[in-house]
Amino acid sequence: MASAAPVGVFDSGLGGISVVRQLTHDLPHERVLYFGDSANAPYGTKTPDQVRELSFRIVEDFVGRGVKAVVIACNTATSAAVNDLREHYDIPIIGMEPALKVACDAGHGTRQRVIVAATPLTLRERKFAALMDRFKASHTIFKQPCPELVEIVESGKLGDHDLVMRTLHDYFNQYDLGEIDSVVLGCTHFVFYRDYFRELLPASTAIIDGNEGTIRHLDVVLESLGKRAPEDAEGGVELRNSDPSERIADLSRELLEFGR
Ligand code: DGL
Repeated sequence: MASAAPVGVFDSGLGGISVVRQLTHDLPHERVLYFGDSANAPYGTKTPDQVRELSFRIVEDFVGRGVKAVVIACNTATSAAVNDLREHYDIPIIGMEPALKVACDAGHGTRQRVIVAATPLTLRERKFAALMDRFKASHTIFKQPCPELVEIVESGKLGDHDLVMRTLHDYFNQYDLGEIDSVVLGCTHFVFYRDYFRELLPASTAIIDGNEGTIRHLDVVLESLGKRAPEDAEGGVELRNSDPSERIADLSRELLEFGR
């Protein structure tokens, strides 16, 4: 059995396109409907109620378009809304959370020093507190909100090397980076900064994101339901955004091709 229905993927804006890139790479036969909510970005400085309401609006639209599953390509929306969305809809809803487990497990039992970079809302929410509780006794975990990194992507300034490096230094100069084992990119916008983080961090510091694990999870769920795309399907991505400007459409396409 297979299903040619699309997978709905959404984010507060353009960050979730980093997840779409992983999806099209790993599951090339799937059809993706992407929705970026750039008109309402950022989510990371909103209240959980506001983010929940925006997320429901998007998923309702996806359901109307016949998606077979939804990927919340946003750690922030996941923290605020995943439980309620799962309760309300009977299609699979795949969420994301900062890949702290991957970072801690990488130490194979030795104490890890990990910085989790995410939005203020993700780091404040109960979901992240519960995740931290599982690891904080055996590891040293620093929570670093980086809201500016969302704004830089949304305003199309990701290519501004000086601006980006200055912003990263502002957030990370307070740490002794030589002592940090890994930095977790706990926001899908931040995945586009991987090369900049590489420039900032010593070679011994790992940079970890949750995109690959999320798509693996999606694949397992689709397979278990017999809903993978047919092997001869062409796949593809339809990009939509609540900001109808040409600028956002161009930027979305650029990010989809970023570094390829
Ligand atoms: N890309 C989102 C995430 O993964 C949030 C960005 C925002 O603050 O809107 O958390």
